[in-house]
Amino acid sequence: MNALGNNWVRVGTLDDIPVRGSRKLTVGETTIALFRTSADQVFALEDACPHKKGPLSEGIVHDGCVTCPLHNWVISLESGQAQGADEGATKSFPVKLSDQDILIDLTGLSA
Ligand code: FES
Repeated sequence: MNALGNNWVRVGTLDDIPVRGSRKLTVGETTIALFRTSADQVFALEDACPHKKGPLSEGIVHDGCVTCPLHNWVISLESGQAQGADEGATKSFPVKLSDQDILIDLTGLSA
């Protein structure tokens, strides 16, 4: 933990995630899906759809969102919020890139 109260943890490099794909990361009992967009932005969401906990890491990444593989809900990669008429949100985690290194802030995990 640093002076800003964040809990940045290096979790790999950009090359670890396929473009428009994802990679899973397990932290304690939580599985986090890291997504890489076609523009090389990286986002982190808990790997559980707000609908019925579908594995978002197996979804399709498009337009800043991921479509759940189970029933096609569309979830914002940035906020974790379900889009359109669907309601609910998946926990999202702040991500930053330092050169090629991916850092995620796990402060929200203990909240
Ligand atoms: S579990 Fe994701 S849409 Fe149903």
